[in-house]
Amino acid sequence: MALFHTLVTALCINCCIFAHALPSEKFSFLIDSVPDDDENYIVFDDTPGLGRQFEGIGAISGGGATSKLLVNYPKKQRDEILDYLFKPNFGASLQIFKVEIGGDAQSTDGTEASHMHEKGDENYQRGYEWWLMREAKKRNPNIKLYCLPWGFPGWLGQGTHNPYVNPQLTADYVVSWILGAKKVYNLTIDYVGIWNEKPYDVTYIKTLRKTLDRQGFTKTLIIAPDGSWDISADILKDQELASGIHAIGCHYPGTFSTTEARMTEKSLWASEDYSTYNDEVGGGCWARILNQNYVNGLMTSTISWNLVASYYNYLPFYRDGLMTAVEPWSGNYNVSTPIWMTAHTTQFVDIGWRYLSHDTGVGKLPDGGSYVSLTDAASGELTIIIETMSHDHSKCIRPSLPPYKVSPQTMTIFLEGSFAAVETMDVWYSKLAFDGTENIMFQKKQPLTFTDGKAQLSLGVDEIYTLSTIKTGNKGAHPNPPQSSPFPQVVADMFDEYPEYVEPNYLAPQVGSLEVRNVSGKRVARQTVLQRPVYWCNAETADKTISVIGDFDWPEMRFTVKFSIPANNGTFGVFVAVRVDRGGCQVQNAQGIFFFVFPTTRKFIVSSDFARKNVLKEGWLSSSTTGEHVIFLQVHKGVAIGKFDSRQAFNISAPETPKTGFAAVGTDNYGYIDLHQYLLQGPQTL
Ligand SMILES: *[C@@H]1O[C@H](CO)[C@@H](O)[C@H](O)[C@H]1NC(C)=O
Ligand SMILES: *[C@@H]1O[C@H](CO)[C@@H](O)[C@H](O)[C@H]1NC(C)=O
Ligand SMILES: *[C@@H]1O[C@H](CO)[C@@H](O)[C@H](O)[C@H]1NC(C)=O
Ligand SMILES: *[C@@H]1O[C@H](CO)[C@@H](O)[C@H](O)[C@H]1NC(C)=O
Ligand SMILES: *[C@@H]1O[C@H](CO)[C@@H](O)[C@H](O)[C@H]1NC(C)=O
Repeated sequence: MALFHTLVTALCINCCIFAHALPSEKFSFLIDSVPDDDENYIVFDDTPGLGRQFEGIGAISGGGATSKLLVNYPKKQRDEILDYLFKPNFGASLQIFKVEIGGDAQSTDGTEASHMHEKGDENYQRGYEWWLMREAKKRNPNIKLYCLPWGFPGWLGQGTHNPYVNPQLTADYVVSWILGAKKVYNLTIDYVGIWNEKPYDVTYIKTLRKTLDRQGFTKTLIIAPDGSWDISADILKDQELASGIHAIGCHYPGTFSTTEARMTEKSLWASEDYSTYNDEVGGGCWARILNQNYVNGLMTSTISWNLVASYYNYLPFYRDGLMTAVEPWSGNYNVSTPIWMTAHTTQFVDIGWRYLSHDTGVGKLPDGGSYVSLTDAASGELTIIIETMSHDHSKCIRPSLPPYKVSPQTMTIFLEGSFAAVETMDVWYSKLAFDGTENIMFQKKQPLTFTDGKAQLSLGVDEIYTLSTIKTGNKGAHPNPPQSSPFPQVVADMFDEYPEYVEPNYLAPQVGSLEVRNVSGKRVARQTVLQRPVYWCNAETADKTISVIGDFDWPEMRFTVKFSIPANNGTFGVFVAVRVDRGGCQVQNAQGIFFFVFPTTRKFIVSSDFARKNVLKEGWLSSSTTGEHVIFLQVHKGVAIGKFDSRQAFNISAPETPKTGFAAVGTDNYGYIDLHQYLLQGPQTL
C-alpha cells in the first residue's frame, strides 16, 4: 500500500500561506479556502482565489416518458419514492429537477403530451410532469426547475421538420408552457433549454430570450444548447447571444470541457449525464462524474438522465435512473446505489457554495480517484468529497473511459487558517462491493478528529467519503416496500376513474398521445395527435400511432379493446397487436402480430410488423355497424385468432418470431380514436 500524504490547508480570510514544503512528503497538494478578493492566491483558470460557484445536482423526468409507471403507484409508495428523490436530508435530496416539455413525440421510452397539440389548443393538465414538479417543490421549495423540449407538435414546423422555421412561434410556444407553470401551478421555472441534442439556432435563442423578458421571465435563464460544447464558437463571437445564455449545457461530456467552452466564461453544465444501469457500476459512474465533471471540466452542475426508471422492462435503457420503480401493481420499488452517491454531495453542499481552487482543494488523487472541496463563503462551512472509483467499476454508458488505476492510499489532511479551529468533521462513507459482499451505502462513521489541524484517512478502492462541517446528513428510510410481483394476469380499464386530460395508466404511448376525455357524457382515452410531430427520433416515420402495455415476457395473451372513431379527424384504421418486440425510437420497426381493421371499408389486414410490410392475411370484416366496435386478438398454442365485433376474422398459425412481447393498440394514421375499454389477459388465464 502506497502511503501518500495529502496536505489540505484551509486559510483564514486575511492570511494566506501557500506551498508548504513538508519534509518527507512524497506527494502533496494544497486545499485552500479563500473566501474572496485581493490576496495573492494560487489560481487556476479564470477565477482568482476560489473556484467556480456550485449550481446543483439534478435529474430529468422525461426525455421521454421515464416516469410513466410512477404515476400509477399506490399513493403510499409513490410518496416514499418521491421522498427518496426530493426530500432534503433524506435521500438524493436533488437540487435541480429538469422535465421534458411534452412534444407529442417519441423521446426515448415513450411520448409525452404537448400542452398545445394544435395551434390555439392550450391545456396544462396533460401528462404527469406538472404533478411531479409540484411534488418536488412540496418537498424542497428551493429546488430549481429546468424545462426542455425533445420534440414539438407538428404545427410548429409549418410543414417542415424544423422548429425554428418561425422562431417567434416556437418561442411563444415554449414561453406559454413557462407561463402556464406560473399561472396554473405557481411554479417558477428557473432554466429553459433549446432542443434536446438537436441543432440550435442563434436567432431562435435570441428570440426566446426576448420573449422571456417581455413576459416578465427575466430570471428564467437559458441553458444552451443541451447537446455539445460546439456552441462556444458562436458565443465567443456574438455578444448578444453570449449575454442571453447562462450556461453551456453539454451532454455526456465524459468529465471534460473544451478550452473554447471555458473561454466563454459561461457556466458549464453536464446538463444530461449518467444514463447507466443503476447497479454498482452505475453508482460508481455517478460518483466519479459528480466529482470529476468539476475536477476535469469545471462543470458546476450535473444532471442525471433519468430521475427514476419507471418504464417497462425491454423499453430502451431499462433501469438507467437514480432508482427503479417499475411495479405500480405491486408497489415494489428499489432504492438504487446512485441515490446514495448523490446524497454524498447534495446533503452537504448547497447551490451557491464555491469550489476551492484546483490543486488547492480540487484535484486528482495520486493513486487514483479525485477530491473536491467546497465552502460556503457566508458561514465558512467546508465539505470535502473524495471518490476512488476504479475503472471497471465506474464506466458510464458513454463516452468510453480511458484506462487508469486506483489503489489504496492514505491521505493526511491539514486544516489551517479559519478552519484550524475545526476539531471534527462528520464522515459519511460508501463502498461499492464487487466481491459478493454487501454494499455499504451512505453510512455515518465516527467523526474525523483533527489534532493540531491534522487528520488521516485511509482510502480503499471503490469508496466515497464526505467530510463535512455540516451536521445534518441523514440516511432516510421508509419501511420495505411490498414484495415484487409480475405484471397482473388480468388488467382492464374503462377510463372512468381519472381526472380529465391525464394519460391512462399502464398504456404507454410510443407514437401519438392518449388522454382521458369526456365524450358525449362518457369517459374515453383519446388518441389526440393529428399530424406527424417535429420528431426527435425516427419513431414517427411510420405515420401510425401505438401504445404498448403488459409483460414483455408473455408468450401468449389475449387483448380486447372497445373503441369508436370520432367523425371529425377520425382515423381510418385501428389495430391491436401482441408479441410486439420493441418500443422507443425503434418502434417503427416493431415485429409482432398486428391485426388492423378499417371499419369504413370493412377491410382487415394481419401483419407480422407494425409498418405492415409483411402481410400474413387479408380479408373482409362481416360487421358493418358504425359506433362502438370490439377488436380482439389472441395468440395461444401457436395459433393467432382475431375477432371483430365478436365474429372471427381469422385463425392462422402464429409466426415463429418474436416469441414474446408487449400487447399494443393504435391507429393506422394520425387521427382520433376513442378507446372505451380494454381487457388484457395473460398466459395463465388462457
Ligand atoms: C407561490 O409560490 C411562492 C413561492 O415560490 C409563494 O411565496 C407564494 O405564496 C405562492 N403563491 C400562491 C398564490 O400560492
Ligand atoms: C430490486 O432489488 C432486488 C433485490 O435487490 C433485485 O433482485 C431486483 O432485480 C431489483 N429489481 C429492480 C426492478 O430493480
Ligand atoms: C367530465 O366528466 C366528469 C364526470 O364524469 C365531470 O366531473 C367533469 O366535470 C367533466 N368535465 C368536463 C370538462 O365536462
Ligand atoms: C382536424 O385537424 C386539424 C389539425 O390537424 C384541424 O385544423 C381541423 O380543425 C380538424 N378538423 C375537425 C373537423 O376537427
Ligand atoms: C383455429 O384453427 C385450428 C387449426 O385449424 C383449429 O384447431 C382451431 O379449432 C381453430 N380455432 C378456432 C377458434 O377457430
